[in-house]
Amino acid sequence: MNATRTAAAGLTTGWLIAVAAQAGAQPAKPERFGLGRPATEAEIAVLDIDVGPDGAGLPIGQGRAGDGAPVWAQACAVCHGAAGEGGTAGPVVGRGQDRPTVGSYWPYATTLWDYINRAMPRNRPGTLTAHEVYGLVAWILAANEIIGEADVMDAETLPAVLMPARDQFVPDDRRGGPEVR
Ligand code: HEC
Repeated sequence: MNATRTAAAGLTTGWLIAVAAQAGAQPAKPERFGLGRPATEAEIAVLDIDVGPDGAGLPIGQGRAGDGAPVWAQACAVCHGAAGEGGTAGPVVGRGQDRPTVGSYWPYATTLWDYINRAMPRNRPGTLTAHEVYGLVAWILAANEIIGEADVMDAETLPAVLMPARDQFVPDDRRGGPEVR
């Protein structure tokens, strides 16, 4: 143990000496290194998928609960349960406060769209079409009795959905330091 420590300390000292010896001879640092290139608009567009709470960024498309049902059965039920009641992954349906679900604690329907679009299905994220995500969001919202079975979810209607947990969140406006608990 002691021998290893001594060897490591010796290595560090040697490195410092080598750096000090070089420092005087180093050429001026260039302003830019000339590496890479600006990303193209198309490349940025592929990554620029965020949807805000106000719905900014929602793409064209639409879906009802009935459109989402077969996608849920095929791509989601294996982990979240056939009725969204939970399996190896947590439940997404339920309005009680005893367990966090989309119905009990998710503050915005719009960010539910964002989350499913970017992260689900967990084993194949990024594979759903915009229509499928609208259908899945509609299915989850209808199962939580937040919207009706026939309600169409799209870029206009989704931001207008009032989630039961909307007012359970407060902005974190602490400035740090002693205020942080
Ligand atoms: C391979 C298993 C798996 C599949 C398939 C899957 N999920 Fe998930 N899902 C998870 C896990 C695990 C989490 C929790 C992730 C975390 O907390 O980081 C999760 C979280 C979620 C959440 C957030 C739940 C919450 O209350 O915070 C939603 C909504 C969701 N998934 C929807 C879907 C939808 C819709 C599909 C089908 C397109 C799907 N999931 C398919 C494993 C899966």
